[in-house]
Amino acid sequence: MPALVLLGAQWGDEGKGKATDLLGGSVDYVVRYQGGNNAGHTVVVGDQKYALHLLPSGILSPECTPVIGNGVVVDPAVLLSELSGLNERGVDTSKLLLSGNAHLITPYHTTVDKVTERFLGKRKIGTTGRGIGPTYADKINRVGIRVQDLYDESILIQKVEAALDFKNQILAKLYNRRAIDAGKIVEELLAYADQIKPYVADTTLILNNAIDEGKVVLFEGGQGTLLDVDHGTYPFVTSSNPTAGGACTGAGVGPTKINRVIGILKAYTTRVGAGPFPTELFDEDGEALRTIGHERGVTTGRDRRCGWFDAVIARYATRVNGLTDFFLTKLDVLTGWEQIPVCVAYEIDGKRVEELPYSQSDFHHAKPIYEMLPGWSEDITKAKTFSDLPKNAQAYVKALEEMSGAPISAIGVGPGRTETIEINSFLS
Ligand code: GDP
Ligand code: IMO
Ligand code: MG
Repeated sequence: MPALVLLGAQWGDEGKGKATDLLGGSVDYVVRYQGGNNAGHTVVVGDQKYALHLLPSGILSPECTPVIGNGVVVDPAVLLSELSGLNERGVDTSKLLLSGNAHLITPYHTTVDKVTERFLGKRKIGTTGRGIGPTYADKINRVGIRVQDLYDESILIQKVEAALDFKNQILAKLYNRRAIDAGKIVEELLAYADQIKPYVADTTLILNNAIDEGKVVLFEGGQGTLLDVDHGTYPFVTSSNPTAGGACTGAGVGPTKINRVIGILKAYTTRVGAGPFPTELFDEDGEALRTIGHERGVTTGRDRRCGWFDAVIARYATRVNGLTDFFLTKLDVLTGWEQIPVCVAYEIDGKRVEELPYSQSDFHHAKPIYEMLPGWSEDITKAKTFSDLPKNAQAYVKALEEMSGAPISAIGVGPGRTETIEINSFLS
């Protein structure tokens, strides 16, 4: 089983960090392929809790080589501070590999992200303010700065000047902000160059060789399917491709090399930031999910919007990612409800719709059609096998599996590494 993709099946924060960490000890490489430090992946090992933003969750497994692929956008200040934070806690980060083709987030990208959101006012996306969108925009506009540019000073100066010539016009004339000095940016970037150099590598070559040698490579998605710039709820999305195809472009590995695609799926639904969310709850059930599930953003500290499980979204994730398996997380959070509503289809303009509508306006008008499933009250956090679960919890999982279109191969019953029920091995 040489190459697997592990990605978010909803709007992010499904528990990708925990799932990646769980497999980390058995895989040779864990690769981030898109996004940047907009991600917040929580890993709980024993009594230690780690919040990872840019680094792959495999960094906590000593046998695993963590890789930041070409599709990731890298804020060098964040990279170095995340590394030193882990080093202070005794984590060895020396094996990290960083693609020389990854694009850099600079201070002008974070500035543009923040002023654009302010300018949009109530139409804002609710970004994390980490400069993600503007950095990807520069990449596509062919005025981005890449990691490798740090090692050719004259090219770096030319590129930063070219990027700022245009941006400073916008900042000064449209947003009434002071122009950013290219020389200062270059100086700041060069100050990071030596510290980052030991990690820079031709990651595409290394990963392809590893797969050819039968090594196990795990691609860890950031964000989630519905935040994908092509397949998500555009424009309320992030600026990259968290979906499975993103692993190929974001790591330089062909689709024929990928054997398995695992969707991480929360037993209910959450979303941070603006945009449509058919099953969102505004009542005490929503508040209870938020409180019991500790649904607060790891990156921004914002409360997450909460709602019931949406099978239409799960089916869509199966389709656009070609999912082979689901990892169902946070089942324990649902303990205590007498009945649990599950959205099985939408009503749009009086009609029942089974598949996610491609039209943004239709999706905004979608009303959930719920089926009620019986709940359970027994503590499930100690369950080790599927049969340890109460009958109604088993039935809930089976119903979700049937509606979602791929087998549920693991179930999370708590945040810790060991609080997991493994049904089918991901690595066989
Ligand atoms: P990610 O961005 O997909 O990695 O997810 P986050 O770390 O942002 O959010 C998931 C949260 O749920 C974290 O606080 C995890 O520790 C926690 N978590 C993951 N799996 C489970 C689970 O099965 N049960 C419970 N109770 N918490 C979980
Ligand atoms: P993980 O990897 C949840 C959301 C933001 C905003 C939108 C665009 O932890 O699941 P951006 O800063 O990316 O331009 O913001 O995307 N968003 C996330 N929501 N989990 C994440 O990451 C997210 N990363 C970005 O809230 O709505
Ligand atoms: Mg998160």
